[in-house]
Amino acid sequence: MVQNAPTSPSSARDRLSSLTSHIMATSSVFTPANVAAAPEDPLFGLMKAYREDPSDKKVDLGIGAYRDNNAKPWILPVVKKADDAIHNDPNLNHEYLSIGGLADFTAAAQKLIVGADSAAIRENRICSLQTISGTGAVHLGGAFLSKFHPQKPTIYLSNPTWANHNQIFTNVGLKIATYPYFSQQTKGLDFDGMLQALRAAPAGSIILLHACAHNPTGVDPSQDQWRQIATVMRERSHFPFFDTAYQGFASGDLTRDAWAIHYFVEQGFELCVAQSFAKNFGLYGERTGAFHFVSAPGADAAAANRNIASQLAILQRSEISNPPAYGARIASRVLNDPSLFAEWEEDLRTMSGRIQEMRRGLRERLEARGTPGSWDHITSQIGMFSFTGLTEAQVKVLRDEWHVYMTKNGRISMAGLNTHNIDYFAEAVDSVVRATS
Ligand SMILES: Cc1ncc(COP(=O)(O)O)c(C=O)c1O
Repeated sequence: MVQNAPTSPSSARDRLSSLTSHIMATSSVFTPANVAAAPEDPLFGLMKAYREDPSDKKVDLGIGAYRDNNAKPWILPVVKKADDAIHNDPNLNHEYLSIGGLADFTAAAQKLIVGADSAAIRENRICSLQTISGTGAVHLGGAFLSKFHPQKPTIYLSNPTWANHNQIFTNVGLKIATYPYFSQQTKGLDFDGMLQALRAAPAGSIILLHACAHNPTGVDPSQDQWRQIATVMRERSHFPFFDTAYQGFASGDLTRDAWAIHYFVEQGFELCVAQSFAKNFGLYGERTGAFHFVSAPGADAAAANRNIASQLAILQRSEISNPPAYGARIASRVLNDPSLFAEWEEDLRTMSGRIQEMRRGLRERLEARGTPGSWDHITSQIGMFSFTGLTEAQVKVLRDEWHVYMTKNGRISMAGLNTHNIDYFAEAVDSVVRATS
């Protein structure tokens, strides 16, 4: 007779638990075979790697947020002022906003983006909803076009573009394609390639355009080039979808950074605009933005626009019900008060001025060192980002050996440079470029 070995209490527990899970097991639909692991978001992965790097030399040039000269987040003084006023307001409550958001905010956002004297406002053919920052505005626009455009055309994105455009428009069921944008040779705009692609795109395509401070390249069309883009888009009956995340942050001048949108509206296009207040107010986490739809001038433009507004409201209700109040309250105070507005313009000049200074400083240092290649694109590009032309292999060496963090495509956030790290960064780039050229 076989004698069973005495069972220890823990192995008995294990057997019991495996028996229980066997009996209780139901078949799972969401197995690894059905739901593959998604790749980590490249930018957020980069931020994590930077945080975990113990080096005291490390430099963060991946971050898409403004930093002051001490590499610290900067609360705009005017935002602090508006924030304090809101806190001290005895009438403040935490009620829901309406579906379209804070009306004082959307009305001011609208004036800011198309101009207070725009015919679109006068003729009641623009509607505006507050959104979850720029991302939410891009999404709301994409969802609307996907649902209501009778032809459901392809949306053309610049190559390259802000990576999230690809996922947002794909998620709402639009087909995406690209048009050439960046020239590797000149590190400027591939204008001929862009125009050719716009001409070749099927009539009535949707064209995503960055209004200013193109992300990730920092390359913008000149005003004359915008005029030519508009001409081709009119000939081909394309629909402009403007994404504006850097108004005032790019040049320090709010009107100048909205020039392309003003021009297209003046030209009578039917178009839409996704507007973010993350960068120009430093309200990143408050998710403050707006979506605007401008109907083309015509007898039934105001009626069409009212219908569009009503459908946008239904979409918004089903997705977020109503937008968050806090950031909109801050922005609204500033946008609607002439003296706070003037202070905001000053803050915008502080941010854009420091970035421009870093551009000049980096170019000067690389040229002084005789770093192989040409570096004039560092100052001709505009806004938060610069497409340096550094290769993926060079970016890897910069990260592994110099603790400098940037995206694989060689994009740097100029806001990550400051007077304490610019010499070190120039030295790192010089060393890596020499070693590989
Ligand atoms: C081109 C572009 N569009 C939209 C956004 C949206 O940003 P947010 O959702 O933070 O306003 C960004 C942010 O980096 C951007 O660069």
